[in-house]
Amino acid sequence: MTYLVNDNCIKCKLTDCVDVCPVDCFYEGKNMLVIKPDECIDCGVCEPECPVDAIKADTEPGSAKWLEINTKYSKIWPNISEKKDPPLDHEKFKDEQNKYEKYFKENLKQKSRKKSEKKSF
Ligand code: SF4
Ligand code: F3S
Repeated sequence: MTYLVNDNCIKCKLTDCVDVCPVDCFYEGKNMLVIKPDECIDCGVCEPECPVDAIKADTEPGSAKWLEINTKYSKIWPNISEKKDPPLDHEKFKDEQNKYEKYFKENLKQKSRKKSEKKSF
């Protein structure tokens, strides 16, 4: 079992959860955090800390999608172990639905092709 972050976190990113995790298993994307399932020790202390109810156990219905997302992005994104200021407009997004479909960003650096790399004939 593990706990997982879902899309309630997107654009809120309050980071209260980070402060209480005893094993520092949160990872930070552009507008949300994820938990690394392999590292989470299922202590459950982060779940009630999230003001927007974005953390759930993987035993909750509908958690398969979030397990996949948390697993994938916790391998790519950097670790976060200290609370930081949330986005200035976070209040605006706290009750919004379907934030994953609307706003999720992989936050991966896009490789832009330099002009010099383009083939010239
Ligand atoms: Fe960290 Fe415990 Fe939350 Fe897992 S359940 S992410 S170990 S605080
Ligand atoms: Fe996100 Fe809630 Fe943590 S909004 S950053 S899961 S406290």
